[in-house]
Amino acid sequence: MLNVGKIEEGFVLDHIPAGKGMSIYYHLGLDKLDCMVAIIKNARSGKLGKKDIIKVECDINLLNLDVLAVIDHTITVNVVKDGEILEKRPLVLPKELKDVMRCKNPRCITSIEQELPHIFYLADQEKEVYRCKYCDEKNSEKM
Ligand code: CTP
Ligand code: ZN
Repeated sequence: MLNVGKIEEGFVLDHIPAGKGMSIYYHLGLDKLDCMVAIIKNARSGKLGKKDIIKVECDINLLNLDVLAVIDHTITVNVVKDGEILEKRPLVLPKELKDVMRCKNPRCITSIEQELPHIFYLADQEKEVYRCKYCDEKNSEKM
């Protein structure tokens, strides 16, 4: 059994669907952060069979975790302080997402004006549908 120790300060993303760990690593920009990161792939889990876990030793406020809810609801965010879990932060679908996904409509203004931010708004909470703020195109990007 592979063991990764507990962290002192930072956060643990737990119950990540197996295989999505690396994608989350890049979506959160962890590759650009100068802090300690552990990615555990295919950890055994009672509930999911297999899961991924990411442990990050840095201030959680440095990151925008909005994208996590869009990727999967099962992910839990554990905030750790002085070696103890301080808080389990619930994931909520953000009303608006900036530069997380790109609009695929070739006629969209964001396809022409390259410097515009790609902004999507939550159009349907139940169905988890996001639409482009500029052209209303439904997001088709798999996260
Ligand atoms: N963890 C850690 N460092 C700490 C405390 C916890 O890395 N100082 C990790 C644990 O290894 C675990 C995750 O944070 O992967 C969640 O910890 P905990 O809430 O104790 O586990 P569970 O009770 O199994 O969580 P849940 O109820 O969310 O399934
Ligand atoms: Zn668009």
